[in-house]
Amino acid sequence: MVKYVMAIDQGTTSSRAILFDSEHQIAAVAQQEFKQYFPRSGWVEHDPEDIWNSVLATCREAMEKAGASAGDIVSIGITNQRETTLVWDRNTGEAIHKAIVWQDRRTADACAAMKKAGHESEVRSRTGLLLDSYFSGTKVAWILDNVEGARARAERGELVFGTVDSFLIWRLTGGKRHVTDATNASRTLLYNIHKGSWDQELLSILNAYESMLPEVLDSAAEFGETLPELFGAAIPILGVAGDQQAASVGQACFEPGMIKSTYGTGCFALLNTGAQSVISRNRLLTTVLYQLDGKPTYALEGSIFVAGAAVQWLRDELGLIETAAETADLADRSDPNQEVYLVPAFTGMGAPYWDSRARGAMFGLTRGTGVAEFARAALEAVGYQTRDLLEAMRGDWGGGSLGDTILRVDGGMVASDWMMQFLADILDAQVDRPTVLETTASGAAYLAGYKAGFYSEPSTFSKHWQLDRRFAPQMSEETRARKYEGWRDAVSRTLVRDA
Ligand code: G3P
Repeated sequence: MVKYVMAIDQGTTSSRAILFDSEHQIAAVAQQEFKQYFPRSGWVEHDPEDIWNSVLATCREAMEKAGASAGDIVSIGITNQRETTLVWDRNTGEAIHKAIVWQDRRTADACAAMKKAGHESEVRSRTGLLLDSYFSGTKVAWILDNVEGARARAERGELVFGTVDSFLIWRLTGGKRHVTDATNASRTLLYNIHKGSWDQELLSILNAYESMLPEVLDSAAEFGETLPELFGAAIPILGVAGDQQAASVGQACFEPGMIKSTYGTGCFALLNTGAQSVISRNRLLTTVLYQLDGKPTYALEGSIFVAGAAVQWLRDELGLIETAAETADLADRSDPNQEVYLVPAFTGMGAPYWDSRARGAMFGLTRGTGVAEFARAALEAVGYQTRDLLEAMRGDWGGGSLGDTILRVDGGMVASDWMMQFLADILDAQVDRPTVLETTASGAAYLAGYKAGFYSEPSTFSKHWQLDRRFAPQMSEETRARKYEGWRDAVSRTLVRDA
């Protein structure tokens, strides 16, 4: 009888379910996109019922495609868009507001006020994060302050908070478990990453309540069992990790010094720093990479809000291209003498600038600038932003020894050879593209399968990682330096700088 692990990958624009067999090969995939709500400029919401229904439907579809029944699934692993915030009623399981998505900037002013009040260094030293609206803490407070009666209900213990993993587990277990894992907890602004617990001081700064918070478990742990009626029989949930952390596991970045960078809507680069939690001097985040057997492994993270989204912008808003895949060909045909820069600060700038008021800008336009140069500028912006992150990582860790580091990449954009070559060129580092690009689901499945005893220890799993192609730098040092300097100049002219 063939057995599987089912990975649930609940992302920003779609939910996916993927079945992996005992050799960690993909047996079936199902995917459903769901609606994005933009009620005001800078606001992004999801309907919690869309999240739930798309997860249920994709799980059932993937099982059907593989001809698997619940008894064939040894465990479920959940990976999710991080930071996205839900508050629901403890008795009914109904959310009291739409989910406030990680991209949502509605609490930017609240963050600025907290910075002004001098809270940032406290928050930073305890959570490894910055006071930015990206994270969950201020979103929870916003819901409590803006949904009628919510604060009083929270004080009476009637409401609970969770990131998407917690919400799904609550629903999957019929409200029996209110849990999360350390990686997701580390994105809330409420979790002390050094002590490994919720932090009273942070709860009081953010005006939230301990009674609302989930229990924090390892990334491979017993998170509960699904209600039998959902899939035909109960299935244990044994793995949970935020999607960028799960991708690091899927990329087998188990050793300190290893870096993965995922290119989806945004780009998230995580550097494994081992048991050491490094506080960045260059405005990177310190976060939990995974936690096994009660021991956290930490990472330095650079988060870029717009990567592939810039290509979507060319397609959907400007109508310059019909498909994202055209961009690389266009870039290839562009005029190399035109130095056009796109700073895609559509929702502000993330690491290492953290400027939530900046908005996008283009520089270097001439009468001869056309579609091809726009396409190149959009792709190059992704490379430049990654270089910003790598520079910051080099400054923070390893005494500059990151020079030889190889970047493991994944996500939709890495299919483009042009993009990957530019990345290697501008980073002056080798870029490795693996054969399996489903790294996020793969990581979640690994955690759940590892806990079930279905997969062996990390060092054996690492051997499954296979190289598709290595991209080595080819650009001259002079060109690299000139182009990157042009980028830094473009960014400096775009930033507004928060308080
Ligand atoms: O921090 C946000 C990140 O987890 C979102 O990832 O892949 O859902 O866009 P993704």
